[in-house]
Amino acid sequence: MAKTIQKLWEGNRKWVERVKAQDPEFFIRSSKGQQPTFLWIGCSDSRVPALTITDAPPGSIFVHRNIANVVVHTDANLLSVVYYAVYYLKVKHIIVCGHYGCGGVQAAMSNKSFGFLDNWLLHLKDVYRLHEEELDSIQDEQQRWDRFVELNVYEQVFNLAKISFIQSAWKQSEYPYIHGWVYDLKTGYLKDLGITVHNVEQLRTIFQYAE
Ligand code: CO
Repeated sequence: MAKTIQKLWEGNRKWVERVKAQDPEFFIRSSKGQQPTFLWIGCSDSRVPALTITDAPPGSIFVHRNIANVVVHTDANLLSVVYYAVYYLKVKHIIVCGHYGCGGVQAAMSNKSFGFLDNWLLHLKDVYRLHEEELDSIQDEQQRWDRFVELNVYEQVFNLAKISFIQSAWKQSEYPYIHGWVYDLKTGYLKDLGITVHNVEQLRTIFQYAE
């Protein structure tokens, strides 16, 4: 077997031994079911693993990741994850977590074509268009990129709130709370953007479903 893959298998065996040494019942408990409190929607970037950067144990966070943490309303994969998390796992919090240095966001800022990826990146270009005035006014490219990362998280938080079955959940309880965070690759720290959404009044009227 290739050395790189061999390393994963060795890692798995070491991890199992370490976990069992610390908590002999861990795998027995884990096999019985999950009760995560959180749904994490993050970027596929290999440097932003939800459990690792929050020092959270397996079982605590239900996770969906894609390029640049985008909530697309025709994405059956994402919608199914969100639906299952809200109606079956009954998570109390959904966290949209972007990250500074996001390659997807940078690609969307440019005029380069990335082949098939362009179709996905158009969702990000739409975010840019919504905030064009602010973003175009930032001269420094790094600062503009950082701000675009934040504004993308902001729009994706509201994209979740626009989903009718999320609004239906809010009619039954105050949950889920939807949070917008950004991870800083340079420091390892998370930043809360302070844009928590948990009721329809936080949306523009056109997006509020009556029933
Ligand atoms: Co990214």
